[in-house]
Amino acid sequence: MIAVYSVARPLLQRRFMQIRQLFDRDSSTYTYLLWDERTMDALVIDPVLEQVDRDLELVAELGLTLRYVLDTHVHADHVTASGVLRERTGAKVIASERGAACADQKVGAGDEIRVGHAVVKVLETPGHTDDSISFYVDGSVFTGDALLVRGNGRTDFQNGDAATLYDSLTRVLFALPDDTRVWPGHDYRGHTVSSIGEEKRRNRRIAGRSRAEFIEIMNGLGLPRPKLIDVAVPRNLVCGREPVAA
Ligand SMILES: [Fe+2]
Repeated sequence: MIAVYSVARPLLQRRFMQIRQLFDRDSSTYTYLLWDERTMDALVIDPVLEQVDRDLELVAELGLTLRYVLDTHVHADHVTASGVLRERTGAKVIASERGAACADQKVGAGDEIRVGHAVVKVLETPGHTDDSISFYVDGSVFTGDALLVRGNGRTDFQNGDAATLYDSLTRVLFALPDDTRVWPGHDYRGHTVSSIGEEKRRNRRIAGRSRAEFIEIMNGLGLPRPKLIDVAVPRNLVCGREPVAA
């Protein structure tokens, strides 16, 4: 008798949240489009202003309804498309309680964002900036600049703090199951995705490091000031629009 094996995942194990990773080459930023395939309701994480037409075209092609625009923090290296997306789609902008004042909804640790039947949980992961948050849904975490593949965001501006980031990484993100997929906010070396278990073991900035060692590494990086910081931060505080002169 010939055995027949089904490749279809059992219904209970199916992941209904679809994830599309998009890239902006100029700023090396990842934008994520997530949607519930049962209802086609969608949200976007960390959209880049220059890519707004690409992103809206994809939303239309896939037949999605954009409900929310989420920023993981006030970015210093690119201008957010959150304001333009809100105007063009009616989507609500969501940011941290300590983030941009222009957001329609402010969120903090433990808050939930419902899109279709899916529930996105908010994790507070400050340290890169004081308003940094991550989003967890369906076995995936979107870490902004807190945790990158084999790296992490710098901590030397926007109220960044190495000790705070160490605590966010070790107590919040590394508390997630090891098989949680890690989707970073940036990548500069061609990586796309990792897992919590992999980063716990392989991320050289933090694996096996004490809090004091991590602080020493971060405080000694001596990185140049981001080129766009003086433009991007003021604009991102108003959802990417032109700031009104005082
Ligand atoms: Fe950042």
